[in-house]
Parts: sequence; structure tokens; C-alpha cells
Amino acid sequence: MDFVEIVTTRYAAKRFDGTPLPAAEVERLLDLIRMAPTAYNLQPWRVVVIPPGSERAALAEAAWGQAQIESCSHLLVFCANTALEELAQRLEERLLAGGAPAESAADFAAMARGWIAGLGEGRLAWAQRQTYLALGNGLNGARSLGFDACPMEGFRPAAYAELLGLPETLVPCALLALGRATDAPRPKLRFRRDELFLSAPAAALA
Ligand SMILES: Cc1cc2nc3c(=O)[nH]c(=O)nc-3n(C[C@H](O)[C@H](O)[C@H](O)COP(=O)(O)O)c2cc1C
Repeated sequence: MDFVEIVTTRYAAKRFDGTPLPAAEVERLLDLIRMAPTAYNLQPWRVVVIPPGSERAALAEAAWGQAQIESCSHLLVFCANTALEELAQRLEERLLAGGAPAESAADFAAMARGWIAGLGEGRLAWAQRQTYLALGNGLNGARSLGFDACPMEGFRPAAYAELLGLPETLVPCALLALGRATDAPRPKLRFRRDELFLSAPAAALA
């Protein structure tokens, strides 16, 4: 399936048939998610994978009873990872292990640490923005592998953090329900191009 077909046929499925997706296909999807770009390559996110057959009643309740939670195969919980200093450290180690000269690995990590220090109160919001790029890979990736998905923000992050026993540094920000949809795509409703794209006046760029 080419990218044009993926983005034009993907839709947010509201209900799934409950059958488990093959584990190998889900692994392939996780690798597509893993390839998502992030600023400074810090990869400030983690995804909790809830497999088929797991108890979902409390998770559904904390998502306003949305049918996707209990009818999907795998439920992915995308969490922003705010332990950014640890990630900078890991990145430096991996750069070195990958053969980068010590000085350039240290320079890069110092730049990343400077960026992190400048985030201040914006640390979580920044990590969340990176996390949504991974979510995008997930929803388009699912379609590319021939199954369906629904991105979801309609849940209580604090309740999910508690139910899943997450440390404070991991903050749930979106769900991705995966499976085989039983509903049909609705016609796409998108704003017109002129409502979404602006041509910058030449004077503003001079
Ligand atoms: C970040 C995000 C959160 C969403 N949350 C929900 C949700 O909680 N429940 C739901 O049914 N759909 C949810 N959606 C799906 C949107 O309603 C859907 O993507 C939008 O209406 C466009 O439809 P389409 O994806 O089928 O083209 C969400 C989508 C995004 C991107």
C-alpha cells in the first residue's frame, strides 16, 4: 500500500471485532512507531502495550466507556517520558557505542542537555509533542500493515497512570486501539485547503 492510499483510507475505527492480531504484525507496527523522529533524537516517550485478553473493564470505564477499549486487539498507551536527563545520558552512551568520536558525542549531549534545561515548565508539553509524532506513525503504520486503529485522547490520563502503575515520569497522553474494525469509514470531513494553508505574502519574507 503506498503512502497516498494509507493516508486517504485510514480512519478512526469506533469498534473492533475482538479478534487478536498476530503478534508478529504488532511487533512490525512497534518497529514503525520506533522509527518516529524526535527533536535531538531524545525519543522522550514510552508505549505501554496492553495485549489481547487482558482485563479492560477499568480502562474502558476511565475512557468514558468508549467501545474501542474492550473490542480492540491490542491497546497502546502512548506516554510522554519526562526523564529527559536520563535519555540524554543514554543517547551519549549509544553514540559512543556506535563509534562516534568521544568529543562529538559529548558536544551533542551537551547541546541536548542545554535544550532540556531551557524547557523549564515546558518539559512535559515538549515530550508530549514528540510522542504525537510516534502516534502518527502508529496510526498510519497500522493501516499500512492492513489493520485498523483509533487514536484516542478521550480517557483520564491520571486514572491510566494509576491502573498501569506508571512512574511519575511517564505521563499517558494518547491511546491507540488496534484491531480489525467492524464499522465502516465515514466520508472524510476536512476543511478546505484555503482554510488550512496560507501563502506567506512576499513582503513578510523580504
Ligand atoms: C489525538 C486524537 C485523539 C482522538 N480521540 C478520540 C477519541 O477519544 N475517541 C474517538 O472515537 N476518536 C478519537 N479521535 C479520532 C478523531 O475523531 C478522528 O481522527 C477525526 O474525526 C477524523 O476522522 P478520521 O480519523 O476517521 O479521518 C482522536 C483523534 C486524534 C488524532
